[in-house]
Amino acid sequence: MDVREKIIIALDFPTEEKAKACVESLGEEAVFYKVGLELFLNSQGKILEYLREKGKKIFLDLKFHDIPNTTAMASVFAAKKDVVMFNVHASGGKKMMQKVIEETKKINEAASVIAVTILTSFSEEEIQNVFQSKLSLKELAIHFASLAKEAGLSGVVCSPWEAADIKKVCGESFQTVCPGVRPKWSATNDQERIMTPKEAVQHGCDYLVIGRPVTKHENPKEAMRMIVKEVEEGLGLC
Ligand code: C5P
Repeated sequence: MDVREKIIIALDFPTEEKAKACVESLGEEAVFYKVGLELFLNSQGKILEYLREKGKKIFLDLKFHDIPNTTAMASVFAAKKDVVMFNVHASGGKKMMQKVIEETKKINEAASVIAVTILTSFSEEEIQNVFQSKLSLKELAIHFASLAKEAGLSGVVCSPWEAADIKKVCGESFQTVCPGVRPKWSATNDQERIMTPKEAVQHGCDYLVIGRPVTKHENPKEAMRMIVKEVEEGLGLC
């Protein structure tokens, strides 16, 4: 197994130039990148072509959320760009997610469509206020994960602390894509409820989304090598 494929580097940069400089500095150490709204819009989408030319895998993190037809057409764009993973909000509903899968699979059979359950910026109190639900935040996140599973999605974005519970309910092959990962040697920044890369894979995270510990490190290649080693330890590969 190539452990580098489990580590998705969050390319959170305001310009295409800065993002490219980061990709160049990482060279062959990193193979999988996440492109979010900031970089996608500032680069007018061109960063996708660049990453493809470099042979990198792309997680397009634009979190689509609209009526079924509109979301599905946005998904067709993602599928045509050969991204290997992109996401939609599970709160858009099962019909929306089913339509996304139906249209995406016509173009790109291999693309993983994953769901955002509850944004981690929500507090328990805010959740009750917005959704007026009797369920706790965690129960609601698991409910949205189940809806995504029923609709045929490949997995969810979730906290490493939710990964094991989600796998219990949705099955082992349901992918968990987890931000909130911090090696011991790195600053936590604004992340809470973190796990180390080793702990995260031991708790069932299939993919780790890591940004600043690598992108802001004085030697990004070295940071990546250290994380790969930790993941290998966590998986019992060394
Ligand atoms: O720099 P850092 O490792 O904190 O980056 C994590 C990435 O994952 C960022 O792009 C952030 O927006 C994203 N993310 C997150 N928490 C979520 C969903 C996405 O940190 N719940």
